[in-house]
Amino acid sequence: MPGSDPDTVRAEYATSDSLRVRLDTHRLYSEQPDDLDDRCRRLMCLSGEESVLDVGPGPGRFEAHLRSVGHRGLLVGVDASVGIAVEAAGIAPSARWVVGDAQALPARSGAFDWAVARHMLYHVPDIPAALSELRRAIREGGAALVTTNGADSLPALRNLRRDAAEAFGLPAPGGQAGGAFPSTNALELLHSAFPRVETVLCENALRFTDAAPVANYVESTFTLGGIAEDTDLRDRLREWLLRKAQRAISSGGGVLHDPKYGALYLAHAE
Ligand SMILES: C[S@@+](CC[C@H](N)C(=O)[O-])C[C@H]1O[C@@H](n2cnc3c(N)ncnc32)[C@H](O)[C@@H]1O
Repeated sequence: MPGSDPDTVRAEYATSDSLRVRLDTHRLYSEQPDDLDDRCRRLMCLSGEESVLDVGPGPGRFEAHLRSVGHRGLLVGVDASVGIAVEAAGIAPSARWVVGDAQALPARSGAFDWAVARHMLYHVPDIPAALSELRRAIREGGAALVTTNGADSLPALRNLRRDAAEAFGLPAPGGQAGGAFPSTNALELLHSAFPRVETVLCENALRFTDAAPVANYVESTFTLGGIAEDTDLRDRLREWLLRKAQRAISSGGGVLHDPKYGALYLAHAE
């Protein structure tokens, strides 16, 4: 949900606390099983020997997953957040962790079999620059795996987020999921750097019967609003979110069903 303002993105990802809430929500409350790590690995058809550069890897779950299934090739994660790179080193210690920017990757040209950028390009101010960096980092015959959200993903959670911002005078969220890199224009942007791109579209939903995980998810998107230290505001916001979430669940006959749309792209270097 956060946009691409560098200060906002830096504050949001100083640690992975709020990201972890959202990742766990998707893992625990998706209608169909939603294991992005497994899906990406299968789509990449990895043999286990490939070198992989993961840009904006977060706390290293993908790398831990790859090692858990026996991947032996070099894994390098480049994240803009020092805090997150440190966490990732604890979670997947056999990968290499580097602090750096997607728009100027600290990587030799053609050094990797794969580049990966999952759910991160919408945080980058200059998306074409980041895409051309992904392309530069992979060898001839290599490929990039890129994922993002559909613009109309999770309408109920986004409405709740918008209403909460309005009610508490907090910064307004971006208008759509996927920010400036939603699935509707990702393909066109990818073609600016990659000659051949394959698309896999996914449809799923979050399904809640309890207000607490709804409140947790929406609350996690407010880290950047500068409310972290204001415990009174936090308490009032949480109470408000729980009440609204409970009302939405009751009016849905005991279920809040929120559709989500995602896209995975295999972008080939040639
Ligand atoms: C939504 S998380 C995605 C984490 C992970 N790729 C995944 O699929 O779970 C976005 C990550 O991108 C990182 N990030 C944001 N802007 C970046 C940039 N310009 N360069 C490198 N990393 C960036 C953040 O620090 C955060 O770890």
